[in-house]
Amino acid sequence: MRQGVNKTDFWEERYLKNKMPWDIGEAAPAFVKYFCSRDLPRQVSTAWQAPTGLKIAVLGCGRGHDAFYLANINNLEVYGFDFSESAVKFCNEAKEKKNLKNIFFYNVNFFDLKKENQWKGFFDFVIEHTSLCAIDPLRRKEYADLIKYLLKPKGKLAGLFFIRPIELGGPPFGITQEEIRDLFKNNFAEVEKLHYESCPHTFTGEEYFGVFEKKVQ
Ligand SMILES: C[S@@+](CC[C@H](N)C(=O)[O-])C[C@H]1O[C@@H](n2cnc3c(N)ncnc32)[C@H](O)[C@@H]1O
Repeated sequence: MRQGVNKTDFWEERYLKNKMPWDIGEAAPAFVKYFCSRDLPRQVSTAWQAPTGLKIAVLGCGRGHDAFYLANINNLEVYGFDFSESAVKFCNEAKEKKNLKNIFFYNVNFFDLKKENQWKGFFDFVIEHTSLCAIDPLRRKEYADLIKYLLKPKGKLAGLFFIRPIELGGPPFGITQEEIRDLFKNNFAEVEKLHYESCPHTFTGEEYFGVFEKKVQ
């Protein structure tokens, strides 16, 4: 099972069969709250301008609900990455319909982004939503290193994590709050403490939101 999640077919099959218990059909309320609390309006507004060109990566973007929510904020550039071909196709079709020019989707294994110099220190934010729990737990350190690689100094990881016992198996593979802190403590500061945020997932009750800022080294 663990090795299975490393393969694109494992995820592609779920999209093809429409078996996506993680997909809530809209942006997770935790992200809406976080970005709204920074006075970023939910809908496109001509009255408010985000700093020009603020770049956001959504790792394992799925059907792009969080990504599209963010792309509705003026001046943000949103980049979604997923290795399910049909999830990315769904996103690109939705992009066409919405006629958005500030959102880009890539059908890639996000671990390969480190092979391309163009992404090094490219992002102001990385959004993590049920991706850490979707990967092989043995690759968590590699995932934390990837986020460090992608972010600018003082860039932020805004994450909605699944706190549940690892013994339950997965995906979603469980993790504790302490393990999350441990994973990021060397290169990040926890600027918004992990705390429970409700989310209408199948695994509701287990979602914890937190923000980690990349240290200037
Ligand atoms: C549990 S789903 C979450 C999707 C999305 N974040 C959401 O909340 O709707 C995990 C997603 O990560 C993608 N994924 C898993 N491992 C990946 C990898 N190594 N590279 C790119 N995408 C990956 C899967 O295809 C899947 O769409």
